[in-house]
Amino acid sequence: MAYFTRKRFGAVTRVDLDVGVAEYPVFVGDNPISMFATYVVSVAKPKKVVVIADETTAELFGIRIETVFITKEVQVIPLTVPDGEACKTWEVAGELLEAIADAKVGRDDLIIALGGGAVSDLAGFVAHTYMRGVKYAIISTTLLSMVDACVGGKAAIDLAAGKNLAGAFHQPIAVMADMRALVGLPDCEFKSGLAEAAKTAFLDGDEFTAWCEVNAEKILARDCEVLTDLVLRCMEFKAIVVASDPEDHGARECLNYGHTLGHAIERLAGYGQIAHGIAVAEGIRFAARVSVQISGASIETVRRQDKLLDMFEIPVVAQRWSPLDTMEAMLSDKKVRNGKIRMVLMKALGAWEVAELDDSIVFEHLRLWEASGM
Ligand code: GLY
Repeated sequence: MAYFTRKRFGAVTRVDLDVGVAEYPVFVGDNPISMFATYVVSVAKPKKVVVIADETTAELFGIRIETVFITKEVQVIPLTVPDGEACKTWEVAGELLEAIADAKVGRDDLIIALGGGAVSDLAGFVAHTYMRGVKYAIISTTLLSMVDACVGGKAAIDLAAGKNLAGAFHQPIAVMADMRALVGLPDCEFKSGLAEAAKTAFLDGDEFTAWCEVNAEKILARDCEVLTDLVLRCMEFKAIVVASDPEDHGARECLNYGHTLGHAIERLAGYGQIAHGIAVAEGIRFAARVSVQISGASIETVRRQDKLLDMFEIPVVAQRWSPLDTMEAMLSDKKVRNGKIRMVLMKALGAWEVAELDDSIVFEHLRLWEASGM
């Protein structure tokens, strides 16, 4: 499944992704920081680099990243934000913008996100708004961000009314994913990323799914070579989807597979209580079953998806909510149109569609979900 040309430099692979509205390299592998830094400095020629990191990531990787840029005679402005979704507020974005302005960062300088998806959402938002847009790059440190958020240019902060309600599209000039960052990633976060990777494999089709089945053990052992390939496959797939629909009006909706129930579970459990990917995996199991009734998916396709999620040791969500409560949470999804729940469903691996569902159908499946504990 080589959609793009991969160039190998020792333990690092570079791929130039074309996402339709932009083209930029991703550097993936064991310790790609030198290559990444050399590239962004040569392309952006910044005098200053603002590194926005969450507290935990700044502690783990901040000094190493800063040193590389200082060695290249670029001034580094490190800015730290709270861990997780808590950083995606107007308040934090405002503080960052003020600090960046105080540091006299110019339009030719560079903002780098160092962390997972929450940090890249926030830093992208800040880069998009500061001086009406400055260059931006991503150093991704979680599997969830590597296989999804770091490609595609979505940038956002949360509002009281919901997640990601104020945002923009701001494509990075480069992305780096260091497999060393995954070695110490907590198991729950690793599994959360694996769920999104499994989602990508199902959307892509039989070949990627079979590759995951064959390599599941090495993936769980966090084998650097295999994880590099997994991350690149996901990035390449996502780039193709984004290129066909950069601003999320159609084809990009496939990336929402498993997210209708997944988002509802996150909401019902209380944000942050169940990891995003774990909720999405539950949503995939559910959507696969609805797909049999609505989209003609075979039972074999459902079993194969369940099996890969099991091989990746992604736990089922033990908690259940009443069908009524769950349906209400599903109806608050951004993808709802005309009061109808819309779900991404699978006709077969690699063949998806969006279906607008009657409440009675969703309700019946939720009843089974509640009763079975799947
Ligand atoms: N995370 C889904 C998207 O980028 O569209």
